[in-house]
Amino acid sequence: MGQHISEDLDQAIAQAVPEEIQSSKNTKKLFIKTYGCQMNVYDSERMRDVLAPVGYAPIDTPEGADLVVLNTCHIREKAAEKVYSELGRIKKLKNQKAEAGEGDMTVAVAGCVAQAEGEEIMRRAPVVDLVLGPQTYHKLPEMIAKVSRARGERLETDFDTQEKFDLLPAARKPNGFAAFLTIQEGCDKFCTFCVVPYTRGAEFSRPVDQIVAETRSLVAQGVKEITLLGQNVNAYRGAAPEIEGGDKWSLGQLIRHLATIGGLERLRFTTSHPRDMDEDLITAHGDETKLMPYLHLPLQAGSDRILKAMNRGHTYAEYRDLIARVRVARPDIALSSDFIVGFPGESEIDFERTMDAVREIGYGSAFSFKYSVRPGTPGAALPGQVPEDVKSERLARLQELLAQQQTDFNKSLIGKTLPILVENVSNGNKNLFGRAPYLQGTHFDGDPSLVGKMAMVKIETAGRNSLGGSLVEN
Ligand code: SAH
Ligand code: SF4
Ligand code: F3S
Repeated sequence: MGQHISEDLDQAIAQAVPEEIQSSKNTKKLFIKTYGCQMNVYDSERMRDVLAPVGYAPIDTPEGADLVVLNTCHIREKAAEKVYSELGRIKKLKNQKAEAGEGDMTVAVAGCVAQAEGEEIMRRAPVVDLVLGPQTYHKLPEMIAKVSRARGERLETDFDTQEKFDLLPAARKPNGFAAFLTIQEGCDKFCTFCVVPYTRGAEFSRPVDQIVAETRSLVAQGVKEITLLGQNVNAYRGAAPEIEGGDKWSLGQLIRHLATIGGLERLRFTTSHPRDMDEDLITAHGDETKLMPYLHLPLQAGSDRILKAMNRGHTYAEYRDLIARVRVARPDIALSSDFIVGFPGESEIDFERTMDAVREIGYGSAFSFKYSVRPGTPGAALPGQVPEDVKSERLARLQELLAQQQTDFNKSLIGKTLPILVENVSNGNKNLFGRAPYLQGTHFDGDPSLVGKMAMVKIETAGRNSLGGSLVEN
């Protein structure tokens, strides 16, 4: 079948064929694969939102797709390399589709690899039709149209974050009862290991009214829990002109305002930076009941020497004091962190400081990584790069400690009754699945009509990653 139906024919069909058939004729298959952080998950959802009105409906596998988008992550070398191996697979599918006479498959690379290595992607992978950076997704329909007309203007890596958010549609189509909402993008902190300031650009905060409108749209569709996202979410300083004399709002103010929206039950935020934890945000953990008792506050390393080399802008003692204040405000808070082992210059003694810090603070969960050299970041040029086997050995020790803490924390919840946001019916040995305030997946038996609601569940079993319990009748 030919791809290019003439305009005349289109018009004839429009007059002769009922609308529902026309739209099925025009429906195009969209496959998006998402790598990296929650902000990419959010962006992928927004790409689906902008593409829906121009006829793209999502599918779960890339076979036969009309448009494939890889939404990529550049944070560590492994993450970035995944893109090229995936493109190899996509190329085969694209060829198969063309050979079967089923038309063209447009291939787009989005996200942080696109921003960082756009030109290189075009060179290394001719299968790619389009490269678009994280601030350009509102232009997707326009860019796709250009690709189908001519092979020009295929690289779009502008840095206009404001335009992105102004032009993305306010309406959201959530796919569950917990949703992500990006309120801040970019980073001005320039930690010496990190690519984010280069891939996402300077810090930008969305205005309060835009966030309120998006929250209301989500809540109206049944969303009960919203996680506010930003690379540095607690650096949020958003304009609130209509609400309070043009002042900029902090994250604490925004959270208190969103908490007044009826129907919204839970708020979370991630990722925050220790330097931006102000007093108001700390006290919000104590007095704002909708704010969940869970704080992801990355420490990265326990040695002051390494923290300084990383340009984190605080010492371990300052972090420890901050945690103590948060725990005064909210004694049952669970803490989470990111750690990097094997940063250049990290000695065995430095690494032991990280282990000591983990023992002293005590985490409910954490992410830990081997330092990955990122071209163009200051860390890449530092002396004292740590051998791979040393990094692996340190990571194993750290992860063993963190896994133990996570299991211990989960076990400490046995006997407690927790509110669970029921997300779906599961086919395990308990029929319902939901999330606890501390984010663990929780299994229990109950009526399927509870899906999308809060349920009180008494915790009876705990593993490293999940909880089990029984419904408590109110
Ligand atoms: N803005 C957040 C982190 C965003 S990146 C913060 O400041 O904490 C998510 C995590 O990836 C980081 O916390 C860090 O632990 C890890 N990471 C970033 N760059 C890395 C690198 N070059 N090698 C290994 N891990 C890295
Ligand atoms: Fe990266 Fe540091 Fe910015 Fe976090 S604060 S995104 S680690 S540069
Ligand atoms: Fe990765 Fe970009 Fe997020 S580098 S972690 S997708 S901001």
